[in-house]
Amino acid sequence: MTLSYLHRMHGPASYPAEAAERAPHILKTWLRYSPDAKPEIRDFEDWAENAIMLHEADRISGGKVRLLDADSRIRMHGDCTSYVPSRPGAAPAFMYGMWRGSDSVSFPDDVDMVGNNAEAVRAVSAYPTATAFLEAAGRDFHICDADTHQLNAVLKEMHDAGHREVFIKTRFKESACRLTMPAEADDLWYKTVRGSDLEWFLVQHEGAKGVLFIQGVFEPTHEYRMIIVGDQVSTGAGCVEAFTPLDNRGDLFDPRTEEVRNRSSVTRNPDIVARYIEFARSFAQVWATEVGDDMMYSLDLALDATTGNIRAIELNPMTNLGLYACNSAALADAIADVFAPAKEPA
Ligand SMILES: Nc1ncnc2c1ncn2[C@@H]1O[C@H](COP(=O)(O)OP(=O)(O)OP(=O)(O)O)[C@@H](O)[C@H]1O
Ligand SMILES: [Mg+2]
Repeated sequence: MTLSYLHRMHGPASYPAEAAERAPHILKTWLRYSPDAKPEIRDFEDWAENAIMLHEADRISGGKVRLLDADSRIRMHGDCTSYVPSRPGAAPAFMYGMWRGSDSVSFPDDVDMVGNNAEAVRAVSAYPTATAFLEAAGRDFHICDADTHQLNAVLKEMHDAGHREVFIKTRFKESACRLTMPAEADDLWYKTVRGSDLEWFLVQHEGAKGVLFIQGVFEPTHEYRMIIVGDQVSTGAGCVEAFTPLDNRGDLFDPRTEEVRNRSSVTRNPDIVARYIEFARSFAQVWATEVGDDMMYSLDLALDATTGNIRAIELNPMTNLGLYACNSAALADAIADVFAPAKEPA
């Protein structure tokens, strides 16, 4: 059995007109799978993030990527694979590529999605419950239901420990903010979130309950995304929003970062990145021992400007994940290496 590659082309009928100049080799692959595609005005980065992985899967499979057609079996909304359960015993297949908006595909039931199936996505999404993560986070990190008593108790515990600021984010990325707690420790939830994005968080629809991650504050600088496949750190790049893997210049770990995300200019910082690589390699082993290695995920890191220590910011499953200037070829090679079924003994 060999590992096969599936792909859902994001808008196969067209490609961005500038692709001919900006990414001719990627476009060539695109046109081989969709010969009638026409140039039009569309978002180049969205197209590139999807087309690059088609290009890599094509290279590594020797031109045998299986395209998924539109259907109504699996609905995707950015989060492309998290509904696909594993099917032990079926032939292993891999799929990754960014989507935007709604899509629905016919996902074949003769394959076992590896690395990125529902179980893998669930395990990675539960990262704040793993000791491996909490140690790498190096700060207080609480998971809290949308319940006034629980929220007040967690904030009181942090207040008693000397915190006067907290970083609170919602479980599903609706909002993330840094907030100041009042000097007096009564009615902390309401007084802390008043006037912020989270003020209405406890007003829930139809009884649905949200979850918050409440953390100690630090000063993140040089934010960096590592992509871990199994227990291997495959590639990494600074969290520079303008970059896609097309901006990678051949490094496995792109040395460019912004001191403050979205606010500073891009500079080369190979020494910081060397420390990140060592940190991520050790993290990947500890995570694999505690949680497992049958998955792939991103590990976001930052340097705490106050202490100079490396801290893990968060983990993300490979659902709708930006790769920045990661090395897409190294990523595809790692996937083939880690998820290819063991060779039959000679
Ligand atoms: N504990 C913290 N203290 C201070 N700043 C933080 C903390 N955790 C995260 N941040 C900052 O907030 C940003 C968003 O946090 P995080 O990545 O955990 O949330 P998110 O919901 O995934 O947001 P995004 O989609 O912007 O990455 C980080 O990139 C970092 O700059
Ligand atoms: Mg994030």
